[in-house]
This record gives sequence, structure tokens and C-alpha cells, in this order.
Amino acid sequence: MHLLIDFILLLFLCTQANSAATDTILAGQALTVNDKLVSENGRYALGFFNTSSSKPSQDTTNWYLGIWFKTVPKFTSAWVANRDTPIKSTTSLELTISQDGNLVILNRSTKSIIWSTQANITRNSTTAMLLSSGNLVLTDFSNSSEVLWQSFDHPTDTLFPGAKLGWDKVTGLNRRLVPWKNLNNPATGVYCYALDPSGLKQFMLTPLNSSIQYWSTGVWNGEYFPSIPEMKVSNPVFNTTFVINDQERYLTVNLVNKSMVTRNVMDVSGQRKAFIWLEDSQDWTMIYAQPKLQCDVFAICGSFTICNDNALPHCNCMEGFTITSPKDWELEDRTGGCSRNTPLDCISNKSTTHTTDKFYSVSCVEFPENAPKLEAAASAGECAQVCLSDCSCAAYSFNDGRCSIWHNELLNIRALECSGTSSSTGETLYLRVSAKDFHGVKNNRKGIVIGVATGTCVSALVLFALVVLVMIWRNKSTSSSHILNGVQGCNRIIAFRYTDLQHATTKFTDKLGAGSFGSVFKGYLNDSVAIAVKRLDGAYQGEKQFRAEVSSIGTVQHINLVKLVGFCCEGSKRLLVYEHMSNRSLDVNLFRNNSTILSWTIRYQIALGLLEG
Ligand SMILES: *[C@@H]1O[C@H](CO)[C@@H](O)[C@H](O)[C@H]1NC(C)=O
Ligand SMILES: *[C@@H]1O[C@H](CO)[C@@H](O)[C@H](O)[C@H]1NC(C)=O
Ligand SMILES: *[C@@H]1O[C@H](CO)[C@@H](O)[C@H](O)[C@H]1NC(C)=O
Ligand SMILES: *[C@@H]1O[C@H](CO)[C@@H](O)[C@H](O)[C@H]1NC(C)=O
Ligand SMILES: *[C@@H]1O[C@H](CO)[C@@H](O)[C@H](O)[C@H]1NC(C)=O
Ligand SMILES: *[C@@H]1O[C@H](CO)[C@@H](O)[C@H](O)[C@H]1NC(C)=O
Ligand SMILES: *[C@@H]1O[C@H](CO)[C@@H](O)[C@H](O)[C@H]1NC(C)=O
Ligand SMILES: *[C@@H]1O[C@H](CO)[C@@H](O)[C@H](O)[C@H]1NC(C)=O
Ligand SMILES: *[C@@H]1O[C@H](CO)[C@@H](O)[C@H](O)[C@H]1NC(C)=O
Repeated sequence: MHLLIDFILLLFLCTQANSAATDTILAGQALTVNDKLVSENGRYALGFFNTSSSKPSQDTTNWYLGIWFKTVPKFTSAWVANRDTPIKSTTSLELTISQDGNLVILNRSTKSIIWSTQANITRNSTTAMLLSSGNLVLTDFSNSSEVLWQSFDHPTDTLFPGAKLGWDKVTGLNRRLVPWKNLNNPATGVYCYALDPSGLKQFMLTPLNSSIQYWSTGVWNGEYFPSIPEMKVSNPVFNTTFVINDQERYLTVNLVNKSMVTRNVMDVSGQRKAFIWLEDSQDWTMIYAQPKLQCDVFAICGSFTICNDNALPHCNCMEGFTITSPKDWELEDRTGGCSRNTPLDCISNKSTTHTTDKFYSVSCVEFPENAPKLEAAASAGECAQVCLSDCSCAAYSFNDGRCSIWHNELLNIRALECSGTSSSTGETLYLRVSAKDFHGVKNNRKGIVIGVATGTCVSALVLFALVVLVMIWRNKSTSSSHILNGVQGCNRIIAFRYTDLQHATTKFTDKLGAGSFGSVFKGYLNDSVAIAVKRLDGAYQGEKQFRAEVSSIGTVQHINLVKLVGFCCEGSKRLLVYEHMSNRSLDVNLFRNNSTILSWTIRYQIALGLLEG
């Protein structure tokens, strides 16, 4: 996690210097790299910012013109002008009104235009202004109600309160949200949240430029979108309206409490997420993510991976494969997937008859809905032969007499939990690997555990935790930070035994709070590290809710709110273990009745966001 936070580090330059805060650029004025515009209400700022990773020596710094939350100390961008044309140098850089009336980013010394609003303007007396809504508007100097261009018409990844998302039939403008490429790069990402082009009154999530819909709001029923049940109840944060008339079809989201600071964003994870800024915790708190399960996002892990909603990290390479771009992977862009360690014999030797390729069985997985081409084969052996005789065959499966052949890349393979008690058995995929990688697998037992176990990760975690516990038992002086560090290597979450949690919480005596979902108890790991143990004891707490919680909390952990340390699932017992962070823990706030931090409505909203599976 800390690695991630390091990378999230977005640095930006905005020295107050001698520039009095203003919200306007007039013709003839210019904004330099050290200046910024501040909206009249002080909420938003416009200026140049840079992004650089935690290792600046290796990266060139890129500069962007953008709008960010001025009142939020943690730099959070909401709009980027030049997302796909980063600026490499700040020499002679300025934002100004050009001769043709457009707002432009200019190289003052060469007079070359780096970015322009490109509006069809017939006069040169224009003014740019950052409104209190966060909208950057270009208007005629003499008539400020005549908007010539506005940033609300060109959103990047964030939907501002009051902005329209959707289609203007008159101008043909389609406003949509596209995430950043990765946590550190605002370039156009690979997913899109937009109005359904087929005319249905719904918004959908798709890969960019694709019609593959992996989540949708459901068709607007006049009051709310069916897939967002949060809208049905009087929503304490957002008031969403969908407008359809002769000229336009759009969605607009307004704040119920105008003084709240919120962020409605299309995330790098391919999920739409909403956050509220909490002054007390000085952090963004996620109130919902759609779709709720990370693996529901199309090709989120790229090819030759297994996506697991119940473990962190969610994406893992298949055996014989390695992460294609570790740098992007660290920055949460995993869509590049994994690549073969060794090319297939078939490819390198151009022979399909005497291939040495082997099949590695990947059990307990779920295949994507679009089943691959079926081949005539009576047995698993024949099916394997069909695969071997085709160089583009990457894997096969043989189920109920049906032989399926996967060509080229393998996308959207999901891990299932096939532990003893679970009824699902999952399917088995036979992955084609080079003989070299196959032997590598045989000689390396550890590799097998990590590779195969992605499907049954829970059992692997239990094993790992047992090893850790034995280590503790052997050496009482081992600090628990040692446990936490050790666990970082194996998906970072510990599977606890019930008796250990009983011991840690002194038989569940120190109750921090209770809610309809369960009770939260304070405890200590190794008598030193404070933990909060949440015992799910609501009657309806089934496997699904538990898994949804583990995965949702995983997402929350993502933004460093609640650190999920581990869990326990023995028999019908379901417990989640968090790092106890006094009033910083979202979980404790959720269940504490006398919480002064979150109002009940907000807590309800958070609970909905986290728990509705
Ligand atoms: C990027 O911005 C940060 C924060 O203002 C600043 O410290 C850093 O020097 C900038 N990077 C470059 C290369 O100017
Ligand atoms: C502007 O042009 C000069 C001269 O070519 C160059 O050195 C400088 O880096 C450029 N600045 C920007 C912001 O492109
Ligand atoms: C605007 O255009 C007029 C003529 O069309 C010209 O005289 C004037 O200088 C221009 N003003 C600016 C700020 O470019
Ligand atoms: C620009 O505006 C003029 C006059 O309003 C119009 O004739 C022309 O077609 C427009 N051009 C574009 C590219 O929209
Ligand atoms: C200002 O622009 C608006 C919108 O184009 C228009 O309706 C209004 O008549 C204009 N006002 C003046 C004084 O020109
Ligand atoms: C999407 O389409 C645009 C324009 O056709 C193209 O420039 C861009 O590369 C495409 N992006 C992806 C991810 O396919
Ligand atoms: C929600 O927005 C609609 C239209 O903008 C408005 O009529 C309604 O009063 C708003 N409801 C709340 C609770 O703010
Ligand atoms: C609105 O939000 C602000 C900031 O979060 C809070 O201080 C205030 O009490 C809220 N007002 C209402 C009526 O809920
Ligand atoms: C290609 O075939 C030859 C003999 O047929 C074999 O020795 C060699 O290892 C094969 N190459 C690969 C990459 O498997």
C-alpha cells in the first residue's frame, strides 16, 4: 500500500508569489506557470501542475493545465486541458487569449500554440473565467452570458456538480468521462462512462471505443436508475436528474448540501466512484463504486491473468507468464496484462506436428460469458490435440463433452473460491505453455502454490497465516510489524484463526460499536498493534456479503482509509480485522452511535455503497 501512496504522489507548483487571486483572464493578460485562477468561492483553482513519480530521476516531468480542488490539501485534479499533449518544459509557458479569441497554452518565445479551446469565434474580445461551479468559461467581454466555450463540455474523468453528462443533439456534442491512463498519467485511459448510443435512456461503462458494456445504470424510469438503488431512497449526498428534450439528453448531479466537497469520478480501475472529503480525517471517503466488484470491469487485468475479487492484489499472472509492464502495473494500470516467459515451441520452431508445448491446468476458475469457439473433439485428449495443432491456440477447456479453444489472448478469467464448504467447483482451463516454463513449474513448488492457488487463494492464505502463527509461537518476541511485512508478499491479507482473534480481543470484550451488519471489537495483535475486529453477525450475512465486504474494503483500503489486515472464515464465523486508527477508521465511524464525524445519513450511504453486493 505504501508503495502505492508513494506513486500517487502528485506534485504541483502553485506558489502564491505576487499573484493576487483572480478568476479571470482578459485579452492581453497571461497566466504563467507560477500563477493560478481561483474561483470566486475559493473552491477550485486553475493552473499548471506537474506529475512525477516517486523516482523523479528516472522520469521526465510532465506539465498540464488543469482545475483542482483548492480547499483540499491533498492535490486532486478534476479537469485537465491537455491530457494527451503533456508539456515537457516550463520555459516561456503561458496561458493567454490568442488573436483569434481562443484561450491558448502558448510558448511565448516561439509563439507556438500547445493547446487551444478551438472554438469557432468570430470576434477577438473574449474573456476566460473560472466560475464557482468549477466551470472554465470563455465568454464575450461585452456579454458574459454568451458562452463561446466551456470546460464542462469537455470533461476528463470527473463530473462536476451541475455539469451535464450526455448528448447535445443540436451541436452533436457527447460529454462522457474517460479515466486517467494510470494514477500518475492523465492521458486518455481505456474505459468510458457515457450515454447509451443506442438511444436507451441509460448510461453505461464500456472499454473506450467499444460497445462491450460491462455495467450500466439500467434504463431511467422517470425517478431513478434501477442499478443505483441508492438513488431510490432520499440520497443524502447527490440529487441526480436525467433530462430528455428535443435538443438534449443528459444527466446532471447536484449536491444536496452545497457546502459538501465531493468527487464523482471515472477511476483508473474502470469503476465509477464517488467520494466525499471529510475534514476530520483529511481524506476522501469513498461512498460508492460501480460496478462493486473489480473483476466485473472488462479486461481489467489484461490478458493471461486471473482476476480475484477476494484477494489483493486482484490481478495475478498465469503460470509461465510475467507482468508485461511492471511500471504501469504499480500505477494501477494492469490492462497490459502478462506476457509469456518463453515463446511457444509452435511459434519459434514453426512446427505444429512435433511441438513440445505442454498444458498447465488452472483449476477453479470462471470463464467469461463469450464462450470461445467450440471444436469437435470426443475426449479431453483430442481437444488438447486440436489446440496443439493450431499455433494461435493459447488454451483449451473440456467440459461435458464440449471442447473450447481459446485463441491468442485470454481475457476475463476469474478465480472462484472452491474451498471445501463452497458448492461451486468452477471450471478448469488448460493453459498452453512452453515446455521450458512447464518444467520450471515442476521444479518450483512455491511457484505452483502461488500460481494455482489464485483460484483457492483463501486456503493458501490460511496456510500462510498458519506458518506465520507458528513463527510467532516459536518466537514470542517477533514484532507484529514483522507479521505485516511478511504478509505484504502474499496478497497482503492474513487469514486468522478464530481462537487467535478471540485471544486478541480478550474474548470480544472491548466493544467499539455495533450496527445491523455486526459488532466491532478492539484488540491487539501480539499485545502491541491495535486492531478493530468486525464480527459479522447479522442474520442475512451470507457468503456473498462477506466477499463483497472483503473486496469493497479492499477498494477502500486503496485510498488508505481502513487498512484491512486480515479476516477469518471458520465454519459460519465471519470476521474482518482492520488496523485500528482511532477516529480515522471508517469502519469504527460506521458503527459508533455517538460518532461526531459522520452524520447517520452519510453512514447509511457508505454502508449501502460498501455492502450492497
Ligand atoms: C513539480 O512540482 C513540485 C511541487 O510544486 C515541485 O517541487 C517540483 O520541483 C516540480 N517539478 C519540476 C521538475 O519542476
Ligand atoms: C519554447 O520554445 C523554446 C525554444 O524552442 C524551448 O526552449 C522551450 O522549452 C519551449 N517551451 C515550451 C513550454 O514548450
Ligand atoms: C481585435 O480585432 C481588431 C480588428 O478586427 C483589432 O484592431 C484589435 O487590435 C484586436 N484586438 C486584439 C486584442 O487582438
Ligand atoms: C463557424 O461559424 C460560422 C458563422 O457562425 C459558420 O458559418 C461556420 O460554419 C462555423 N464553422 C464551424 C467549423 O463550425
Ligand atoms: C448576451 O448573450 C445572450 C446569449 O447569447 C443573448 O441572449 C443576449 O441577448 C445577449 N445580450 C446582449 C446585451 O447582447
Ligand atoms: C478511440 O478512438 C479514437 C478516435 O477514433 C482513437 O484516436 C483512439 O486511439 C481510440 N482509443 C482506443 C483505446 O481504442
Ligand atoms: C433535486 O433536483 C431537482 C431538479 O434540479 C429539484 O427540483 C429538487 O428539488 C432537488 N431535490 C433535492 C432534494 O434537492
Ligand atoms: C453541510 O455540509 C457541511 C460540510 O460538510 C456541514 O458542516 C453542514 O453541517 C452540512 N449541513 C447540513 C444541513 O447538513
Ligand atoms: C525447436 O526444435 C528443436 C529440435 O526439433 C529443439 O531442440 C528446440 O529446443 C526447439 N526450440 C524451442 C524453443 O523449443
